[in-house]
Amino acid sequence: MLETKRLKLVAFEKDDSGLVARWDESPDVRKYFFANAYALPEPEREKEMFDTWLEELEKGVACFYKVLQKKSTSGSRNKEKPIGMAGWHQTGDIPGRYELWLFIGEGNLLSKGLGTEVIKVLTESLFESYAAHTVMLCWHAYNLRGKRCYIDKCGFKYEARRREAILWEGEFYDMEIASITREEYDRLKKDGVYGDT
Ligand SMILES: CC(C)(COP(=O)(O)OP(=O)(O)OC[C@H]1O[C@@H](n2cnc3c(N)ncnc32)[C@H](O)[C@@H]1OP(=O)(O)O)[C@@H](O)C(=O)NCCC(=O)NCCS
Repeated sequence: MLETKRLKLVAFEKDDSGLVARWDESPDVRKYFFANAYALPEPEREKEMFDTWLEELEKGVACFYKVLQKKSTSGSRNKEKPIGMAGWHQTGDIPGRYELWLFIGEGNLLSKGLGTEVIKVLTESLFESYAAHTVMLCWHAYNLRGKRCYIDKCGFKYEARRREAILWEGEFYDMEIASITREEYDRLKKDGVYGDT
C-alpha cells in the first residue's frame, strides 16, 4: 500500500472491475484516459486494453492500484472512498524505464491536487523501491490539465510528441511524452518537489 496526505493506493482486486465500468462512463475518463490507444472500435478496444493489462500483471512487470480518498476528519465522510485508478508497467525497451498511468474517476474531484499526490507517490516508489532509472508518462496532447499536473507540478520533463498517434471518434490526435531521470529525481527531491506527499 502507498499513502499520501489525502489518499491510499491499495491493490486493485478483480471485484473492483464494476468501479472501472462506472468510471468508464465519466466523459473526462473516456476522453482523456480510455481514448483509443489501440485504434480499435469498442468493445474490441477495451478487451485489448484489459488483456494487455492482465498479461503484464501475470508477468510481474506491472502494478495496478485502486486510489482511495481517506476518511474525512470533519465527519461528513466517514468511509474511505474509491476515486480512481493508477499504476505502472515496465516499458520493456530499456532496463529501469517505467511508465505511469492514472485517472481520477470522480468528476467533482478533478483539479484538487489529488492527481499530483498520486503521481508523486508512484514516482517516489519507483525510484526508491524499484530502482527505476527513468519514469515516464504520456497524455493526449489536448489534455492540458494533465500536462499542467505532470510538467509544472510534478517536475516531469517534456520528451516527445507522437504525431497523430491516437484515433478517437474518427479523428487522429497527437500524444505527448514526458519523463524524469534518476538524476533529475534526486535534484527534485533535494528541492522539495518530491518527498512531501
Ligand atoms: C489528469 C489528472 C490525473 C490530473 O489530476 P488532478 O487531480 O485533476 O490534477 P491537479 O489538481 O493535481 O493538477 C491539475 C492542474 O491543472 C489545472 N487545470 C485544470 N484544467 C486546466 C486546463 N484546461 N488547462 C490548463 N490547466 C488546467 C488545475 O487548475 C491544476 O493546476 P493548479 O493546481 O495550479 O490550479 C485528472 O485530472 C484526471 O484523472 N483526469 C481525467 C482522466 C485523465 O486525464 N487521466 C490521465 C490520462 S494521461
